[in-house]
Amino acid sequence: MVGFENKAVLKLLLVYLFIQFSVTCGNFFQPFNVTYDHRALIIDGKRRMLISGGIHYPRATPQMWPDLIAKSKEGGADAIESYTFWNGHEPVKGQYNFEGRFDLVKFVKLVGDSGLYFLLRIGPYVCAEWNFGGFPVWLRDIPGIEFRTDNEPFKREMQRYVTKIVDLMREEKLFSWQGGPIILLQIENEYGNMEGSYGRKGKEYVKWAANMALGLGAGVPWVMCKQTDAPGDIIDACNNYYCDGYKPNSPNKPTIWTENWDGWYTSWGGRLPHRPVEDLAFAVARFFQRGGSLMNYYMYFGGTNFGRTSGGPFYITSYDYDAPIDEYGLRSEPKWGHLKDLHAAIKLCERALVAADSPQYTKLGPQQEAHVYWENTQSTGLNTSLSESQSTCSAFLANIDEHNTATVTFRGKSYSLPPWSVSILPDCSNVAFNTAKVGAQTAMKVVEYASSPKISAPELVMTKNEVSGIAESWMSVKEPIGIWSENNFTVQGMLEHLKVTKDESDYLWHMTRIYVSDDDIAFWEENQVSPTLVIDSMRDVLRVFINGKLIGSITGHWVKVEQPVQFQQGYNDLILLSQTVGLQNYGAFLEKDGAGFRGQIKLTGFKNGDIDFSKASWIYQVGLKGEFQKIFTLEENEKAGWTELKLDSTPSTFTWYKAYFDSPDGSEPVALDLGSMGKGQAWVNGHHIGRYWNLTAPIDGCPNSCNYRGAYGSNKCMTNCGKPTQTWYHVPRSWLQASNNLLVIFEETGGNPFEISVKLRDSRILCAQVSESHYPPLDQWLHPDVIDGKVSINDIRPQIRLQCEDGHIMSSIEFASYGTPHGSCQNFSKGNCHSSNSLSVVSEACEGRNSCWVEVSNSGFGGDPCRGVLKTLAVEARCVSSSTIGVSQF
Ligand code: GAL
Repeated sequence: MVGFENKAVLKLLLVYLFIQFSVTCGNFFQPFNVTYDHRALIIDGKRRMLISGGIHYPRATPQMWPDLIAKSKEGGADAIESYTFWNGHEPVKGQYNFEGRFDLVKFVKLVGDSGLYFLLRIGPYVCAEWNFGGFPVWLRDIPGIEFRTDNEPFKREMQRYVTKIVDLMREEKLFSWQGGPIILLQIENEYGNMEGSYGRKGKEYVKWAANMALGLGAGVPWVMCKQTDAPGDIIDACNNYYCDGYKPNSPNKPTIWTENWDGWYTSWGGRLPHRPVEDLAFAVARFFQRGGSLMNYYMYFGGTNFGRTSGGPFYITSYDYDAPIDEYGLRSEPKWGHLKDLHAAIKLCERALVAADSPQYTKLGPQQEAHVYWENTQSTGLNTSLSESQSTCSAFLANIDEHNTATVTFRGKSYSLPPWSVSILPDCSNVAFNTAKVGAQTAMKVVEYASSPKISAPELVMTKNEVSGIAESWMSVKEPIGIWSENNFTVQGMLEHLKVTKDESDYLWHMTRIYVSDDDIAFWEENQVSPTLVIDSMRDVLRVFINGKLIGSITGHWVKVEQPVQFQQGYNDLILLSQTVGLQNYGAFLEKDGAGFRGQIKLTGFKNGDIDFSKASWIYQVGLKGEFQKIFTLEENEKAGWTELKLDSTPSTFTWYKAYFDSPDGSEPVALDLGSMGKGQAWVNGHHIGRYWNLTAPIDGCPNSCNYRGAYGSNKCMTNCGKPTQTWYHVPRSWLQASNNLLVIFEETGGNPFEISVKLRDSRILCAQVSESHYPPLDQWLHPDVIDGKVSINDIRPQIRLQCEDGHIMSSIEFASYGTPHGSCQNFSKGNCHSSNSLSVVSEACEGRNSCWVEVSNSGFGGDPCRGVLKTLAVEARCVSSSTIGVSQF
């Protein structure tokens, strides 16, 4: 008996030790190998069709990562993809940073923990609208260096960094063969676009990069994207809005789509891009239809360019990207939901997709085509572990016609295909999904004042008289104009901006002194002219001061400056403040790009002719006094000479402001509304939330309605015309404490800090509209009765499904009509046909719940309200935070 007990204890101990061992060893999976053939990646001996979601870890906080990964998984992702960011990981040569938002190991482990795979795009050049494309600025200072070409100093540094990353991943056991999630690596990024600029050396560099990568013994396949000459075993991959025609450079390589651009990035003063989900789903379905095997959304979550990480020229702080998960981590609907349905439909076809070596193609009409995949018993790639429920014949029917619905006959059955759409038939007979028929919910986001009552009507939101600033009391301190410390230096001539700043600050002061004689003054008065400052070329922002006064601002990307100036008799201080707004992240010869001024700097219009200042004596000063004193930190801010700001004080340039604010209750994401400010940077509790700039998008160029049909480009379906490009700036919850949060702002052009407010981002209103003719929910295909053939999928009715964000429930159903409702979200109305119990049926199913579903059928609504008419159920629901229910109408 005793012996038995001991055995049991021993067993338990062994199990415990095994678990501990697995956890500490980072065993997320049983170790597995990854290879490939012409059809797909082969994971643990089996071909797979893979959906991946791009999330750049430093564009979120570690506290946000688990939820982002969970939402990706719930949305149907098999993998998460990210670049690595060299300048974040090695800010100073030889000093590595893998902490906080740059904790790559933690991020990959969280992905592994959730059972997803990882695609690691090391770069180290990454583009990504990231400062300097990911290169550390110190790389420019290495003697003789030329980036991304057959250049020894560059290759040495690149190899060192790539080795560092691969070694780190191996040490942490993160590769698949170690039981980790990493199944694929990328070297370089879209070098094919640049290769021509580098001639023969470019070709050599590609070969070197490939060999170097393969030589690291990472043990998983490597890709190069947009690299038609990707050597040997390296898989060349596609980046584009559509990749269905893509063929890799060898018949032995699978078709991989590393970047499916599901939106686009934005510049200060630009409109906001929007890619409709019907078109995005079409592109994805077409890819898998025509033989694609791995697709990654760039981006699945875009996030935020915190600090000074945004690239350039002129990319904004938000990197929302119109992605399925928005900048704040909330689902962007109906994008997220419609893609989730698409992914489920593709998964239902996986067994047939992986079994067939290639699809059988049939032309169904002039612009209609079918691709059929079936299980070929001879195939060695058959994935026997996949559910038996998955069909052995699957088909995709496409209608590429942008204008007309097509009726096609396929295997003796008739199908109606909406314009620019793909129908997915997991069993080669029944349609599970059509890319143009969105059944997913729409969520209307509001950004509301944190101080307004928690349950407020959205109409309250954003009205001017509702403005309740972040704080009643603000302090300010002026930033000195020009040279502010001993730490300045004088040089004859112009130095290149980045050589001086090393990108430690956006700002570089230049000061020189000019003597103006009585004769000059008289000459200008007589001729009614004024002298002009002429600079051949500059980027990104220049501010011109004379004797401490701001007299002009110029913005542009390598533009000529012609700035009229006025001097007084005697000595005058001419101060030029050159600024960067994100370093160039795309193009050849990046190391030569630099910033600041190029060419000659002169003053024209003097009596004795032009004065050339290019070789004059200039005093240089890097950065702002407040920046270097770190007055935005909790530790140092008291050291600045802050004074109380009067309510009626006029907007002031080059001024620091500070205030304290309390964190809004609840768990909704927080934003600062900086719409009342001009241009500058902001910090909360010492965390740099990014640059802000109040530039307005052009008034025109946004269509009234967006037509998803036809090829997408980033200029199609733009929004936000005539409005400021960005007014809300994300402050991650984890950077806030309950009260007394320190907000510090550096303002360049003048604004009103009293109008700065804290807002909450919330998905308040959910809507959905599904008709009787819609398809059954995708998960019903896996219902045991359907699998056993007891119930036909045809007999299952469609459903409306609603889901509030986590921690939220539906407080009320604002509208419900089963019949022939009109209008769209927040604008629904009843039609001629309406079931009188619509509201009670939906309220009963949904009120008080985080998620709910309602069947769209006569039986659900107590009978047919109008025979012979196609009925639709339209619903609008309101979500509230479940913690506020106590103070709500309940
Ligand atoms: C691609 C590049 C990405 C990103 C994208 C635009 O060409 O590879 O890094 O810059 O364009 O968002």
